[in-house]
Amino acid sequence: MKVQVYDEASQIGKAAAMLIAAKIITNPRCVLGLATGSTPLPTYASLVEFYDKGILDFSTIRTFNLDEYVGVSRSHEQSYYRFMFDNLFSKININPDNVQLPNPISANPEDDCEPYDAAIEAAGGIDLQLLGIGNNGHIAFNEPCGVFPFGTHIVDLTESTVEANKRFFDSIEDVPKKAITMGVGSIMKAREIIIIATGKAKAEAVWSMINGEVNPVCPASVLRLHAKVTAFLDREAASLL
Ligand code: PGA
Repeated sequence: MKVQVYDEASQIGKAAAMLIAAKIITNPRCVLGLATGSTPLPTYASLVEFYDKGILDFSTIRTFNLDEYVGVSRSHEQSYYRFMFDNLFSKININPDNVQLPNPISANPEDDCEPYDAAIEAAGGIDLQLLGIGNNGHIAFNEPCGVFPFGTHIVDLTESTVEANKRFFDSIEDVPKKAITMGVGSIMKAREIIIIATGKAKAEAVWSMINGEVNPVCPASVLRLHAKVTAFLDREAASLL
């Protein structure tokens, strides 16, 4: 894993956007894996800036998002679908037909998991996956547990994740407790991965990812087994390294 430390989140946003931009320029039909959360916002802002300046054309790329809440409609202002449109897709020339997020619509959400992995495979697999990391070391919504979950699955969010997400909702009762998420196996199949982390709250998880055992107690630690991962950190997130 390559580790780059920057002073500011905006620099991380630019650096990550530059890697994504290079991928799009060298392969205009590339498949990107995208993440939600606060950390990728500067990355998306930089991608929008590249688009506004005429540097990037998104018209033929395809994207798959990592995860989505279960039981939250796509029009809900906290759905990850809305997040992606508000912060990126509505600001660039991406074809909405080329955008996919997991969407549990069946009476049994488990039935929507395998088709999501199949759709990624059918698109040729993910060329570049953007990831954040949870305070508890999760990647996507793969929470700390006893085994690395392989494919897309339904997950009960841990108390620490519900707590971290409550800033987006009126009260903790409103925070969804279940999500559909790409598995660790789905993520590890990506040909290249960028993981970004900012702020002191991420410092322990970042330490475990880089220096701890490769163990599903810190799901992000699995990334050390991937051949092409770059971690972009700010000084606070890197403070325990
Ligand atoms: P954040 O979330 O970017 O909002 O901190 C990251 C994550 O939980 O994966």
